[in-house]
Amino acid sequence: MRVLVTGASGRIGKALCGELLKRGDEVVGLTRDPEKAAAAQPQVTWHAWEPTLERPTEAAFEDVDGVVNLLGEKINQRWSDEAKRKIMDSRKVATHNLVGTIEGLATKPKVLVSQSAVGYYGDRGDEVLDESSAPGEGFDASVCVEWEKAAHEVDRAGVRLAIVRTGQVMETEGGILGELLLPFKLGLGGPLAGGKQWVPWIHLSDEVGILIWALDTESVNGVLNGTAPNPVTNKEWSKALGKALGRPAVLPIPGFAVEVKFGREFGKVAQGGQRVLPKRTEELGYAFKFPMIEGALRDLVG
Ligand SMILES: NC(=O)c1ccc[n+]([C@@H]2O[C@H](COP(=O)([O-])OP(=O)(O)OC[C@H]3O[C@@H](n4cnc5c(N)ncnc54)[C@H](OP(=O)(O)O)[C@@H]3O)[C@@H](O)[C@H]2O)c1
Repeated sequence: MRVLVTGASGRIGKALCGELLKRGDEVVGLTRDPEKAAAAQPQVTWHAWEPTLERPTEAAFEDVDGVVNLLGEKINQRWSDEAKRKIMDSRKVATHNLVGTIEGLATKPKVLVSQSAVGYYGDRGDEVLDESSAPGEGFDASVCVEWEKAAHEVDRAGVRLAIVRTGQVMETEGGILGELLLPFKLGLGGPLAGGKQWVPWIHLSDEVGILIWALDTESVNGVLNGTAPNPVTNKEWSKALGKALGRPAVLPIPGFAVEVKFGREFGKVAQGGQRVLPKRTEELGYAFKFPMIEGALRDLVG
């Protein structure tokens, strides 16, 4: 299979490319900086693309069977007006431009697997959410709605579309685990802002697993939650991480600490959460390698 990946140089993208190459697929990556990307991932064939300014070149899509769309400006930063514009445009405009090229191809890929996020649901307290739940409120929800809408433009080209609403990806290089690993290792970790909020987590290996399964499986389409079947509260997550590291995890982290670091708007979002279940993902047949947080964290840091 020949797979084109946007955001291939990112944390999820790198892991995805690695798995695809391991099983013998060819991988084409789109990036703003092909020289840098080629130095880091020489087995990927790179093409330059400025996602918000232009459509990607048709040449990159030659013999491509499937496309995975992952790129996006990072979310965990102060949400200044400029940052918000980048966060929105790198998803909405970039996906629109990507689909624009796909639509014009004489031979189109069979499938587009397009990333979204559980931010779609907003902060929903203890409400149990699945793929059929309505979108929530706030900037992150509106970004996901626009991101998914742009991906749906591929429907008129007759290309199969799967949208993965990804939760907090557990990996040691970034995200909530990467950020908090050091303080927890030092015994300085604990529940954030009371710890009652839900963490819709997923092991990186299952995130990549779902993307590849959606690429491969012709019967898979529509929205799939990319979250483990057993979400936990932040308090349970902290306890599980402390246990995996053999360190106490009892020092509470006050909510204002996140607001000092990331500003009020993203700081509030980071203190919220969603109790998300991967209902369709499981119904359609994906089997999670890491369904429980204890096993996932043991695998990653134990
Ligand atoms: N990691 C998570 O926990 C998580 C959870 C839910 C959803 N997601 C979403 O999944 C996608 C991939 O996540 P990730 O953690 O792998 O992200 P990442 O490591 O930050 O990589 C994203 C890639 O997108 C490109 N990019 C970044 N900023 C951009 C901008 N302003 N304009 C255009 N391109 C830009 C970069 O590629 P080049 O520099 O090569 O152009 C970068 O390598 C993102 O859209 C993210 O929001 C991630």
